[in-house]
Amino acid sequence: MNERGFTVANVNYRQELVPFDRKTLLERIKAQLSDGRFQHVLRVEQTALDLAERYGGDKQRAGLAGLVHDYAKQRPDEEYKALIRTEGFDPELLAYNNGIWHGVVGAFIIERELGIHDEQILNAVRQHTIGSDNMTKLDKIIFVADFIEPGRDFPGIEAARQAAATSLDAGVAFEIKQTLNYLLSTNKKIYPKTIATYNAYVAK
Ligand SMILES: [Fe+2]
Ligand SMILES: [Fe+2]
Repeated sequence: MNERGFTVANVNYRQELVPFDRKTLLERIKAQLSDGRFQHVLRVEQTALDLAERYGGDKQRAGLAGLVHDYAKQRPDEEYKALIRTEGFDPELLAYNNGIWHGVVGAFIIERELGIHDEQILNAVRQHTIGSDNMTKLDKIIFVADFIEPGRDFPGIEAARQAAATSLDAGVAFEIKQTLNYLLSTNKKIYPKTIATYNAYVAK
């Protein structure tokens, strides 16, 4: 139980959303990830469930999307490049890196390997590092949960948590601004959807 008395540790997800029971699903995810990354996805699951509870979101989809969002994070770059070339992705994606691929292309891997076909969940995974100009409540929950889960520790984390406690849109706004600042300060290429998210949720 967490402080609001909402049990999250043993959530079983509906068969129509994922064809595995929780134990099997966790084993499959664990096999793909370092221990640190696996603990992160468990915390994102819980945080997503908390946010869904707080903001009236779909807890089944929020928890499940949180649990699987980084499933493909540790795949080699070569696997991503091959999928982009052969599975009909925008070739422009080849100019980016794992930070973009593990969401946008990761959703394809998750659908294929975990049997999750729910477009709401897959879209939340696709957008979890970049957002979009038209995010659903579920998209926002996963975007924010990934950023503020209790294991996160970076300058600004408390302000990020406060923003998320104000509203999901405030959480998204805070996070996309911080992400863009980081990309700018390190001279990284910016994925167009990241800019679209900034324009939609931050720019006045
Ligand atoms: Fe991620
Ligand atoms: Fe993550």
